[in-house]
Amino acid sequence: MTDPYAPRPEHRFTFGLWTVGNRGRDPFGHETRPPLDPVDAVERLAALGAHGVNFHDDDLVPPGSTPAERDAIVGRFRAALDRTGLRVPMATTNLFSDPVFKDGAFTANEPAVRRYAMRKTLRAMELGAGLGAEVYVMWGGREGVECEAAKDVADALDRYAEAVNVCCAHIRAQGLGLRIALEPKPNEPRGDLFLPTVGHALAFIDRLEWPDMVGLNPEFAHETMSGLNFHHAVAQALWAGKLFHVDLNAQRIGKYDQDFRFASEGQRDAFWTVRLLESSGWDGMRHFDAHAYRTEDPEGVWDFARGCMRSYLILAEKARRLDEDPEIAEALAAARTARLAEPQVDWRDPAAVAAVRDEEFDTEALAAVGYGHERLDQLVNELLLGVR
Ligand code: GCO
Ligand code: MN
Ligand code: MN
Repeated sequence: MTDPYAPRPEHRFTFGLWTVGNRGRDPFGHETRPPLDPVDAVERLAALGAHGVNFHDDDLVPPGSTPAERDAIVGRFRAALDRTGLRVPMATTNLFSDPVFKDGAFTANEPAVRRYAMRKTLRAMELGAGLGAEVYVMWGGREGVECEAAKDVADALDRYAEAVNVCCAHIRAQGLGLRIALEPKPNEPRGDLFLPTVGHALAFIDRLEWPDMVGLNPEFAHETMSGLNFHHAVAQALWAGKLFHVDLNAQRIGKYDQDFRFASEGQRDAFWTVRLLESSGWDGMRHFDAHAYRTEDPEGVWDFARGCMRSYLILAEKARRLDEDPEIAEALAAARTARLAEPQVDWRDPAAVAAVRDEEFDTEALAAVGYGHERLDQLVNELLLGVR
């Protein structure tokens, strides 16, 4: 019998070289796994049924490589992609590891650091586009502050916008064909990061020179760290036409940035996210920005990768079952769920607005209605728990 949860390239699952290549280092302890050759990562991911692999510039080409070394590395990587059919849908830049970025990259107070960060990003965009990337993820890992006195937030946002505009101008001038996806995060590694949530980033995009080129890469762990609802964040990004990419992983509220295997925590949130992505027809990449537990040896990394994809497919199947369940359909009708899609007043018509002003309501009768949410929610829970 074929495995119904076996990942296939058409499911559009992607991983970063930094995710499967994560070596288990944490602030308290050294690496527990040996380095992973990017070519081995490509081969293993392809064998597991993934669609693509993404990277930061430095994940593929170690900093300090000569142009000849760089060409050799990229050539070998490209050959592995050609051999396996794995794609590179997204690229990004490491603007956080090098000590030069300790006060920020695009928002560093020192202008030369800002220009260096721009140079590194323009080159990384060229590298990514050259390997076929269509989305460029911009995560401001060091764009933030601990010492409040040291940084003016409005100036920092001006400089952040300037850098995004420079990147867009380069994409246009070079015909790189990339769209930029901003990735919000509330904190870690900085005490506070700029563009902390999806909402902040959406508002920022409106003030850019080419807002159509810029969207979002929301991450499950990042919204959850703030105590926010990830499914709602993704839904609003979709509503705004700004969901360019998504970072899936698992996280418990109130903990450090955990980056666990998708759906290993917060299964309900994961379920609603999968249902939303699947039912919306969104055709972007389902990227797993997560890594294996520190306890794992190199083989455990592939259990981790397989687990991310299987959980997504299991939840997608649960979502289909939810939509076909007659008792749940009845409970949704009792909750008047579909009625929320009915517009009531044409605000362009003054008579319609005036009619609302004068309408009479039986608020007692309206308030007496029960919505049946306890029954509905329990039905969904039982479906998720595997007894429906
Ligand atoms: C994190 C971030 C990163 C980014 C990656 C891509 O919390 O460390 O999620 O993993 O997604 O740098 O830009
Ligand atoms: Mn993250
Ligand atoms: Mn991420």
